[in-house]
Amino acid sequence: MNAALIGLQWGDEGKGKLIDSLMDSFDVVCRYQGGANAGHTVIHDQNKIPLHLIPSGIFHPDKLCIIGNGVVIDINQLMKEIKKLKEMNIDFKDRLFISKRTHLILPSHFTQEKEMKEEIGTTGRGIGPAYADKMRRKGIRMGDIFSLDYLKSFDLPSSFIQTLKIFRENYGHFITDTVILLHNLLKEKKRILFEGAQGALLDIDFGTYPYVTSSNPTPGGILTGTGTPLNSISRIIGVMKAYTTRVGKGPFPTEMDEKTQKAVRDLGKEYGTTTGRPRRCGWLDLVGIKYTTRITGTTEIALTKIDTLDGFPEIKIANKYNIDGEETDQFPSEVWKLEKVNPIYKSVPGWDSTKGIKSYKDLPRETKIFIRYIEDFVGIKVRIISTGRKRGDLICV
Ligand code: GDP
Ligand code: IMO
Ligand code: MG
Repeated sequence: MNAALIGLQWGDEGKGKLIDSLMDSFDVVCRYQGGANAGHTVIHDQNKIPLHLIPSGIFHPDKLCIIGNGVVIDINQLMKEIKKLKEMNIDFKDRLFISKRTHLILPSHFTQEKEMKEEIGTTGRGIGPAYADKMRRKGIRMGDIFSLDYLKSFDLPSSFIQTLKIFRENYGHFITDTVILLHNLLKEKKRILFEGAQGALLDIDFGTYPYVTSSNPTPGGILTGTGTPLNSISRIIGVMKAYTTRVGKGPFPTEMDEKTQKAVRDLGKEYGTTTGRPRRCGWLDLVGIKYTTRITGTTEIALTKIDTLDGFPEIKIANKYNIDGEETDQFPSEVWKLEKVNPIYKSVPGWDSTKGIKSYKDLPRETKIFIRYIEDFVGIKVRIISTGRKRGDLICV
């Protein structure tokens, strides 16, 4: 069965770890949106490896990794990443495929982003300007790097042309028509896992606009970002942390007080994988989660980082919002309303230790109560529980 794994919050839910852990059930992993703004951490041979563009299934030698057309590619970053993985003896031969239709991040995109970086707190990876050029029909796509004549009509610095040549010579064989490839794989009944980057609350349409990214992490992004038919994906794994984090600016209704944020940040090592920025930390927001499970069509929840809350005497869960004295259980679309939210919390008792637990029956009673509360509130089962950073720290129910 094909599946998608999508973040339900503001990114960094632990998607990389889960993809790496779940690959035994899949033959292929495919990125469909975003770019090197993503930072997906995988622990391999006890090393912490941040992946920005390479799909998180790369550490499984027999699995195919596809970068779909909806991704925007920073060639320098991609070359750096491949080189680093090759040094770790990761074999790329006949395993990595990059769509001819992916758009390139150009040097001008980094310059243009400077202003946005301040206003929105972007990752500085050229994402917004690259997608803007794609929509303005001014972009350059991966397949175009095979025609220097065609590239002449763009005003590209000679150093960048040189980089493109180096990329073409060394990695040109990875570039292909991934629509044909994906459709062949579907015909062969290969099991494909679509790897979401960012999270539903960063979605350009459904997120906390304008404090969002410039693509659709929600499932529409899979259709336009890969060319895979709508009816080929029946399983949507929505990933959420047991609490909430956000990097960059924008409304964050359940943001904790400074002292609690610091405790969670230290315990959960909540620092950006891409930029190293300290992540803002907050309590679990089920108003947001209920909304994002709906817009993503989540069929099962993967709950991560419950071990980060080990030892907390009390855990807070927002289940309603108060906005200007009015209560609501709906996630507002307007940023100025979101900024006025006073969350209404339910408190549940904390638990001692869940770290590394691999079986549901071994979880503390309080953790089971916490999980059941989420399931009842959202109306979707928690099928996967992550209890640590390593591949095997996982419970599948
Ligand atoms: P992604 O962007 O969704 O892939 O998430 P990131 O990799 O940016 O951030 C998640 C961080 O939490 C990484 O440092 C992971 O190694 C770590 N992580 C993932 N799952 C768990 C878990 O269940 N428990 C703990 N303690 N850490 C986890
Ligand atoms: P993964 O895939 C967390 C945030 C940025 C900023 C906003 C827009 O690791 O979950 P952009 O550079 O995309 O234009 O920045 O989105 N952001 C992320 N936050 N995890 C990510 O990816 C993110 N990718 C972008 O911090 O607030
Ligand atoms: Mg991340």
